[in-house]
Amino acid sequence: MEKLVSLCKRRGFIFQSSEIYGGTGSVWDYGPLGVELKKNIKDRWWKAMVRMRGDIEGLDAAILMHPRVWEASGHVAGFTDPLVDCHNCQRRFRGDDPKIKGVPGTPEGQCPACGMKGTLSEPRMFNLMFRTTMGPVEESASIVYLRPETAQGIFVNFLNVQQSTRQRVPFGIAQIGKAFRNEITPGNFIFRTREFEQMEMQFFVEPGTDMTWFEYWKEQRMAWHLELGLAPERLIFQEHGPNELAHYARAAVDVEFDFGGSLGFQEIEGVHNRGDFDLSQHQKFSGKKLEYFDQPNNHRFTPFVVETSVGADRVTLAALVNAYREESVEGEEEGRVVLGLDPSIAPIKAGVFPLVKKDGMPEMAHRIADDLRRDVPVFYDESGAIGRRYRRQDEVGTPFCITVDSESAGDGAVTVRDRDTLAQVRIPMDRVRAYIAEQLSD
Ligand code: GAP
Repeated sequence: MEKLVSLCKRRGFIFQSSEIYGGTGSVWDYGPLGVELKKNIKDRWWKAMVRMRGDIEGLDAAILMHPRVWEASGHVAGFTDPLVDCHNCQRRFRGDDPKIKGVPGTPEGQCPACGMKGTLSEPRMFNLMFRTTMGPVEESASIVYLRPETAQGIFVNFLNVQQSTRQRVPFGIAQIGKAFRNEITPGNFIFRTREFEQMEMQFFVEPGTDMTWFEYWKEQRMAWHLELGLAPERLIFQEHGPNELAHYARAAVDVEFDFGGSLGFQEIEGVHNRGDFDLSQHQKFSGKKLEYFDQPNNHRFTPFVVETSVGADRVTLAALVNAYREESVEGEEEGRVVLGLDPSIAPIKAGVFPLVKKDGMPEMAHRIADDLRRDVPVFYDESGAIGRRYRRQDEVGTPFCITVDSESAGDGAVTVRDRDTLAQVRIPMDRVRAYIAEQLSD
């Protein structure tokens, strides 16, 4: 992880937020390559969940919602973690932290940081929602929350979407957006942060069909992670037992990814059967009906919801961890670092190099790069030894490198090097754009 964090900073994937001021705790900024990588992951999700299907509609709801939403959803009363303070070292922990020895608030409670006994406070419940005020005068303004999940924007728009699109149950609504949680123990780079992005889909089904749909979505979502290139041996399902279920859930399973090191297997996505909990709560709190009318059967009901909820940042981290490898290179002392990202999510698709900065090679290389830029992100590089330039692209996951050499002017051809196999093929210059498009098509 340490090597990855350093590579991410050095090559412009991820920076600490407000770094020049000493950083903001567990908040991160995506740099030029990181923003492309995360966007590609979000685009893949949107394509699989919305574009390729006829039964899921997209939505982009606001982050700020009516405060009653969070009363109805159960977040005001129940979205809490137990917080414990150490009077000696002033550190804070979640009350259920397995590293705590003894019972906090008793003489036996031992601090996991400073090791003192009897210094831990009794756990107090701490709400994870960020609060702010809406309106110009603070005293009379109302308290609003930054949404801790995107899902509620979907529930409250259920009928707006259903009626405007004339979808029939079963159908889904999908959304990508920011969510905020004042986590007590954030950390592990972008794994657990206070500001993050979720990709959520709520699938509205007829009661009684919910477990069939739950099984369907469980398999679909695992298939999506595999198609993203995450290694099969690093992915597992983790079923929630009856005592582990969240207040809204009838059934739940996590997709876990093996991040290696001390993190090991951790949740990247949750698939939940939420029953009619959310729509019923919003009907109760808003006084508005959120029912579906099945015309062929003249039957009115509140749909059940099967939800898939995945963190865009967590999948980005999983993709990076999954892709990072160090390799020795035959005949060379220095090895190479490769990000073996699936080409569809690689931030740069092609590096374009003139072998040397003369004999018309830069001009030819520029022409190729400009042509390619119409389709994909390209990096033009003419500085340093060619081997060096290849290594720089390997390290950021660029799947193809195109080199214009001394024979190109004569034969009108260039070499295309494959990041993973290192194989080089020679192809006509005017075929490069089509060739790269073919290689990237799914
Ligand atoms: N609507 C259901 C829901 O929000 P969740 O299990 O609390 O369920 C879903 O969150 C996903 O959101 C998680 O699997 C994870 O990928 C991501 N996520 C949750 N909290 C996060 C955090 N603090 N930092 C980064 N990602 C987070």
